[in-house]
Amino acid sequence: MLSHFSYRNNQLHAEKVPLADIAERFGTPCYIYSKAALTAALDEFRQTLADSASGVETLICYAIKANSNLAILNLFSRMGAGFDIVSGGELARALAARADPRKIVFSGAGKRADEIEAALEAGILCFNIESAEELDRINNIAQRLGKRAPVSLRVNPDVDAGTHPYISTGLKENKFGVPVKEAEILYRRAAHLAGIEIKGIDCHIGSQILDPSPFFEALDKILLLADRLAADGILLSHIDLGGGLGICYREDEPAPTVASYLQPILDRLRGRGQKLILEPGRRLVGNAGLLLTKIEILKPGEHKNFAVVDAAMNDLARPALYDAWHDIVPVAPRQEETRNWEIVGPICESGDFLGHERPLALQTGDLLAIRSAGAYGMAMSSNYNTRPRAPEIMVDGAHVHLIRRREELAELYAQEQMLP
Ligand code: LLP
Repeated sequence: MLSHFSYRNNQLHAEKVPLADIAERFGTPCYIYSKAALTAALDEFRQTLADSASGVETLICYAIKANSNLAILNLFSRMGAGFDIVSGGELARALAARADPRKIVFSGAGKRADEIEAALEAGILCFNIESAEELDRINNIAQRLGKRAPVSLRVNPDVDAGTHPYISTGLKENKFGVPVKEAEILYRRAAHLAGIEIKGIDCHIGSQILDPSPFFEALDKILLLADRLAADGILLSHIDLGGGLGICYREDEPAPTVASYLQPILDRLRGRGQKLILEPGRRLVGNAGLLLTKIEILKPGEHKNFAVVDAAMNDLARPALYDAWHDIVPVAPRQEETRNWEIVGPICESGDFLGHERPLALQTGDLLAIRSAGAYGMAMSSNYNTRPRAPEIMVDGAHVHLIRRREELAELYAQEQMLP
């Protein structure tokens, strides 16, 4: 994993560029992405599809929420990808990145009327509908605009994705989608609505899934439903299996190949004449990015040794939020003896940590790379503690592109107003 970030002459590089050079030029903390890694991640899907010769038409709709930088969206769009959006904001971003609206699917349990209107005006591929009320809302808006809204119902297949409870979505106790039985009734109703055009069926069972078998279980359930609907003349032109394929965050937890996930799916769809839509997020960007940070203060102690770095939970929330593991490695490894360090940010909360008990040889001023931070890193960052958000940099071979500049302090309170 992470071959696009590797050591040369004892210096960690992004492709051909030493990370220390980027720190020097743009400061820390900063997010660094490898264009080759992003391209390779999407290519793994494309190659598997080409190799399988299954004849199943497929559209990869990158889930923008994982990392919504325009440069990344534009890169994937140019490679032919579509997008999975969950808000009017993500629609605006996708269009700003020159995405093809006819390759956009719109997910999310609480779409507002203005967001639905904007998506109808843009001419998106499909709304993934999550409730009876949403079906009516979209029907009404489409009719008012003299349009027919293309829709799928997001079915909750009640399978256990075997992942963190916060990112598991396909169990019946989760708030997402409609149960299979209810979906069947809703489809029959939708078929008679003048503002609705039934396009497909959708499910998304969770995220960071390392054993792909729940995907197949979910697909089997929705195909049975699709067949029952077809018997009644309700024909679905696509099957959307959502996102969720996991990545490798630590060496002892390898991720499945795209082929081991996709091939059994294609086998099930072969000959059915339905298009496959996938909504991978993390898998396309997670391992293509890292967060570069500098050690500000070392505080060795009797019980714990703290390394206070200049990145914090506002930059990368995943450790604080999910107790998630990110590998943390030195940019220029030292030969000295290691000790166990708590890698923490400067924010006044005990939850502000990036890694526990990491055996490292550290000195103040050293640079550390927090790996696998390309997904749900910058996208979930905040300005907590009035900390400007980090810049984002894309490396392409020996070229370094600033794709989002660091926020300036005055921007952080520019929208605020004191009382007269
Ligand atoms: N489609 C839908 C409808 C989703 O809700 C999601 C993610 C995806 C696709 C993309 O899933 P992925 O391929 O990235 O697993 N913040 C959490 C992850 C939340 C995922 C939410 N839904 C984290 O940092 O782990």
